Amino acid sequence: MANRRAVVTGASSGIGEATARALRSRGWDVVGVARRADRLEALEAATGVVAYAADLTVEADVEALASWLAGSGPVHALVQVAGGARGTDRVAEGTAADWRWMYEANVLSSQRLVAHLLPLLRRAAASDSHADALFVTSTAAQVAYPGGGGYNAAKAAESMLVSALRLELNGEPIRVIEIAPGMVRTEEFSLNRLGGDAAAADDVYADVEQPLSADDVADVIAYALGAPGHVNLDLVTVRPVAQSAQHLLARGPLRVRES
Ligand SMILES: NC(=O)c1ccc[n+]([C@@H]2O[C@H](COP(=O)([O-])OP(=O)(O)OC[C@H]3O[C@@H](n4cnc5c(N)ncnc54)[C@H](OP(=O)(O)O)[C@@H]3O)[C@@H](O)[C@H]2O)c1
Repeated sequence: MANRRAVVTGASSGIGEATARALRSRGWDVVGVARRADRLEALEAATGVVAYAADLTVEADVEALASWLAGSGPVHALVQVAGGARGTDRVAEGTAADWRWMYEANVLSSQRLVAHLLPLLRRAAASDSHADALFVTSTAAQVAYPGGGGYNAAKAAESMLVSALRLELNGEPIRVIEIAPGMVRTEEFSLNRLGGDAAAADDVYADVEQPLSADDVADVIAYALGAPGHVNLDLVTVRPVAQSAQHLLARGPLRVRES
């Protein structure tokens, strides 16, 4: 049987890159999508993940991606990882540019991908048992925190889009899966959020014993996609053990207490 093929967005760094690698090593054909062609090409050379450079906030790019995919093979899984945060301003100080960027990158890009790729997912599901649309949202979609407003709003909106899609596809063999990670230490997420301030980005993770890694999240994604086709992991919340809740993060070594 031919391999299943996944389209992984955000494949140029962090969770998306780790997911592309994880699926590839589990026998998937993978198309990796992001804006930075050089990073995708390096990944392609190292792993065989096929590079496709596109800006998901640009309608014409996603349209071109869909037509290239239609001509190059089936799409069994859309894995929408691309997105991110800009700024930690409180609501009263937030800038429209940051909030707009977050809505574009996390919400409208997801909607655009669904609009253009759903026909391809349906085609693959019709001939190969099932297909998957998986989205990486965040625990920021579930609980607000001071300075999180713009990201909370965007990720909550993305999460609602995912829930609506699952209802709309009821009766079709297409799984709709949401993975909501807590703290994941990736190279660029906090750096981009904090305007390139490396020291501030390091502080986010200071003394936290083992934040999640991109590979940890990629493992969960690969499990969700590899589960039997009738098993839909609607929502998986995954955090490091040091982070019991958004507001309850242990800094310092984890230690057993005397009972
Ligand atoms: N790190 C965390 O703590 C954490 C926690 C929960 C959820 N998440 C979510 O997980 C996802 C990945 O996060 P990460 O930590 O891996 O961050 P990251 O390393 O900054 O990755 C973001 C990815 O999105 C791509 N991207 C951004 N804008 C894009 C656009 N307009 N078109 C195409 N690709 C675009 C970037 O590639 P290019 O720049 O090359 O386009 C990059 O590959 C995000 O949705 C984030 O919100 C992260």
